Order: sequence, then C-alpha cells, then structure tokens
Amino acid sequence: MAVHLCSVSSLSIPPLNRTGIFTVRALGSKDFGTLTSQEEKVKLGGSELKVSRLGIGAWSWGDNSYWNDFGWNDVMTKAAKAAFNASVDSGITFIDTAEVYGSSLALGAINSETLLGRYIKEKKAQDPGVEVEVATKFAALPWRFGRQSVTSALKDSLSRLGLASVELYQLHWPGVWGNEGYIDGLGDAVEQGLVKAVGVSNYSEKRLREAYEQLKKRGIPLASNQVNYSLIYRLPEENGVKTACDELGITLIAYSPIAQGVLTGKYTPENPPTGPRGRIYTPEFLAKLQPLLNRIRDIGQNYNKTPTQVALNWLIAQENVVPIPGAKTAEQAIEFAGALGWRISNEEINELRSLAKEIKPVVGFPVEKL
Ligand SMILES: NC(=O)c1ccc[n+]([C@@H]2O[C@H](COP(=O)([O-])OP(=O)(O)OC[C@H]3O[C@@H](n4cnc5c(N)ncnc54)[C@H](OP(=O)(O)O)[C@@H]3O)[C@@H](O)[C@H]2O)c1
Repeated sequence: MAVHLCSVSSLSIPPLNRTGIFTVRALGSKDFGTLTSQEEKVKLGGSELKVSRLGIGAWSWGDNSYWNDFGWNDVMTKAAKAAFNASVDSGITFIDTAEVYGSSLALGAINSETLLGRYIKEKKAQDPGVEVEVATKFAALPWRFGRQSVTSALKDSLSRLGLASVELYQLHWPGVWGNEGYIDGLGDAVEQGLVKAVGVSNYSEKRLREAYEQLKKRGIPLASNQVNYSLIYRLPEENGVKTACDELGITLIAYSPIAQGVLTGKYTPENPPTGPRGRIYTPEFLAKLQPLLNRIRDIGQNYNKTPTQVALNWLIAQENVVPIPGAKTAEQAIEFAGALGWRISNEEINELRSLAKEIKPVVGFPVEKL
C-alpha cells in the first residue's frame, strides 16, 4: 500500500522493512508505531464484511455544536481531509460517520457524510484501487416510523456520500418506539444490496439479544454494537453488553475510545478541554486521572509508545473490540496506527483496569441504559 505522508512535516518515513511493515518515527521523539497495513482486517461479527482492526470516527468533521469550539472553517476541512488520507494510507480504512454528524440544523456546519464522500472521491481520483469501509448511522428520531424510514434515510445518506452502497449501516440509538420496524428496515437494506452488514449502537444487552434474534430469522447476522467503551468508561464490561457480544459473535465497536482526547494525556487540571467537553472532563476529574495517566505513560515508554497508543491497545487487547478514535488532523490519525502490531501484557491490562476502577466514570449517553 502506498504511503503519502508528505504533509506531516514532523514525521520521518523510512522505507518498508522486510516484512512489509512501515515504522514511522516522530523526529527526536517516540516511535509513532508500526503502520501495520499487514495487521489483518477482521470480520465484523458474523457478516462477511472485513474492516481494519482499528477504525476512525468522523463525528468532529463538519461539526460546530460539540466539537471545534462552535466553529467550522476551511482550515478544519483541510485538516480533516488530511486525517482521512493519512488514516487510509496507514491502513486504517474503516470510517464511521452518521447522518446527524455536522447536522444541517446548525448554521455553518457541514454534514460529515458530505465531507467524507468528498474525501473518498478525491482519494479515489488519485488512487482508484483504494479500499475504504464506510459505516454510517440511522437516527431513530421519534417521528420516524416503520421499516421504510430506515431504507429511506439510508438512501439520503448514500446520496450525501456519493456512494451506491455502504459497508455498514447502524441504528444510532434505540428509538422511543418503532424498534422492531427499524430492525426490519436494516434487513431490507441488506436484501436491497444497499449495505454489506448491519449493526446497532447504544443497545443494552436485552435490546441487543432481541435485535439479533429478529435478524437471525431472516438469516441476517447482526454484525456490531457500537458503544461507549474506554479504559475509563467500562460500562459494557459491567452491564452484560460485552459478554453478549462475545457470546453471539457480534463485534463491539468502541466509541470515544480515548475518552474524547483525555486519555492522550494532553489535558490537565491546568489545561482542561474547551467547549462542552470541559463540562464532563473538569479539572477535578482530570486531577483524579493523573495516577492512571502516569502509569499509562510509563507502560508506553517500555514499548516506545504514546499514551494514546497504549489506551487504544488496551481496548484491542480485550478481543472482539474495534475502537474508532476520532481524528481531526493527519498527526492524530497517524498516531492511531501505532496502536497496532503489538500488545500490552495481561499483567499491564489488569493493572490499568484496577487503577481505572479508582476513578468514578463520567456520565455516558443516557440511551445506553434504555
Ligand atoms: N454511536 C454513538 O452514539 C457515538 C458517540 C460518540 C462517538 N461516536 C463515534 O466514535 C468516534 C470517536 O469518538 P469521539 O470522537 O467521541 O472521541 P475519541 O475518539 O475518544 O476522541 C477524539 C478526540 O481526541 C482528540 N485526539 C484524537 N487523537 C489525538 C491524538 N493522537 N493526540 C491528542 N489528541 C487527540 C481530538 O480532539 P482535540 O484535538 O480537540 O482534543 C479528537 O477529536 C466518533 O468520531 C464517532 O464516529 C459514536
């Protein structure tokens, strides 16, 4: 696979080694990791779809209501495009978006699907053989009824993406009502050839099992459940979701896997994140996080890895988990690739979990408990 990282001025790119694996180093700094175009793609649940072992999330692209300090501009559009290109070039080809990201309801926002569609088109113009696995999501809004609302919303998403089909279509959250119809709609989307695989998101264990059984009757596997999961947000380990995923052969897609930037170690009590994130990750919370972050840093040093890479590696080591960290820049995307191609030890996994248990988790997405 070709690697074009010229825009990332602080990184040096050595040639491919004998195993065909790239190692990218930040000058005078850490080993930014092994760009494992070789780490094999994994099957998503019981579907035939294969995705990269780690994905990338596109929520922040075009958004001005949660991310980006309430503004979106051309510089950000270019940075997001560079993040997309760097990600694909480094073998991270599974990209997660949603119809509500960069919502048209917010003035000045650009729909994330529209941006992603543009980036894919421009990339394919340069490299027609490039492979991406696109995942998007249906918003279960209260006024959407029936199975046809799912295929209809999907067709609108495809139109924004400029694609005839996507690899994965997910229900973004369970609806207040109409859930059986939505699951039927997912099945219809597969049968109409609009998607390769289907999944859900923010589904509790009970809802997950019901959705799985309903699709199974049509011979369609429920491929994934996308939930909030990180070292400091381990609800899926406690509420039966992870166990049910493992038992039923459903891949757990981990969103906010670096706790919205907090597990990178760059935010401190003196330098908390700005915008809505600042209300979740307060200086008090960040102060309590420091012992865990210090240990993550120490472990990373043993492997020549950054805290971000350790936090992602911890998730990958849980097995049956595909994390989808969000990247706003090429540098961030490239750093993710260094989470692949190695594993922290079982002792370190357990030690980090024990340390994380000392910290009260932040509030999650309320629908997870429905
Ligand atoms: N299904 C759902 O309900 C749901 C909910 C949430 C998210 N998601 C999906 O999951 C994806 C990821 O979750 P997320 O965006 O909430 O959180 P995340 O992946 O945990 O954090 C992403 C943020 O961390 C910072 N960051 C990323 N890489 C970094 C690096 N190498 N060094 C330092 N900072 C870095 C960036 O923000 P700054 O640079 O501004 O710090 C970035 O926007 C989303 O894009 C979306 O696709 C789904």
